[in-house]
Amino acid sequence: KTVALIGVPLEEGSGRGGCAMGPAAYRIAGIAAALRELGYHVEDRGDLRPEPAKDLPEMDRARHLPVVGAFTRSIEAQTHAAASTGAVPILLGGDHSLSMGSVSGMARYASDIGRPLYVLWLDAHSDFNAPETSPSGNIHGMPVAFFCGKAEFAPILPANRPFVDPHHVYQVGIRSVDEEERKLITDHAVNVYDMRAIDEEGMGSIVKRILADVRGAGALLHVSLDVDFLDPDVAPGVGTTVPGGATFREAHLIMELLHDSGLVSSLDLVELNPFLDDRGRSARVMVELAASLFGKRILDRPTRGG
Ligand code: ARG
Ligand code: MN
Ligand code: MN
Ligand code: MN
Repeated sequence: KTVALIGVPLEEGSGRGGCAMGPAAYRIAGIAAALRELGYHVEDRGDLRPEPAKDLPEMDRARHLPVVGAFTRSIEAQTHAAASTGAVPILLGGDHSLSMGSVSGMARYASDIGRPLYVLWLDAHSDFNAPETSPSGNIHGMPVAFFCGKAEFAPILPANRPFVDPHHVYQVGIRSVDEEERKLITDHAVNVYDMRAIDEEGMGSIVKRILADVRGAGALLHVSLDVDFLDPDVAPGVGTTVPGGATFREAHLIMELLHDSGLVSSLDLVELNPFLDDRGRSARVMVELAASLFGKRILDRPTRGG
């Protein structure tokens, strides 16, 4: 099985500098070696460096649109191409606006092969703002609305591109939603498991339920992992920390359940800001989580009770 690493040195969606160093940090933390050790053929496709798009306007409510839009186009094409050769694309971010491209590319691939695409969004934030509702104008708060076809930008991708059904988006770890964003995720019936749901029901039972839905639908599953899904004590290297996040153990449990399911088609690792990190700790945690998702386990048999 082949894994394609796609570096995305994009930070313009986040409103501050640093995420552009993410791909370098993942490589230094040994992501390729960790996956090779698990038996994968790893192709590192380098970093995308598109020129800003001249046909996209600067907008106050969607900041750095020419840069983010150019990345979106290039990520969409590279993700679709990698998946079409049978590889599992892993996007090394880069801020979360990169998911506009990766998820759109996977949605096009899923539609090519006649299957639905489901998305597992592991994040403190819902990232369902539209330019009109965003309090910040930072596009990294908008990717879910974009790939569901609910955020109007200038034309970035073809108007007839396949959208993800918001009801096929599962958000886990949520603990920061803006006022108007709250209404949007309710109106569009996004499946949200906030921290309260995790505390009451437990991470394992929630994730097993989600995976049963995905399997029942015969869908591909794209996983988007934002560093701020994790508690800031576990992973401080991110610009939008929110207290009360997932523990190291909860996060590993999800990754192990995802691996055992065999359903994951593609992965984003986003929002790592090495400039804010503590001696590479967050980069290493993210690499360890990716390794668990690709099959690293404590015992060489399924864990009892799984
Ligand atoms: N909701 C806030 C905004 O729209 C924060 C979004 C944070 N997103 C992220 N990917 N870290 O600006
Ligand atoms: Mn996010
Ligand atoms: Mn976030
Ligand atoms: Mn449905």
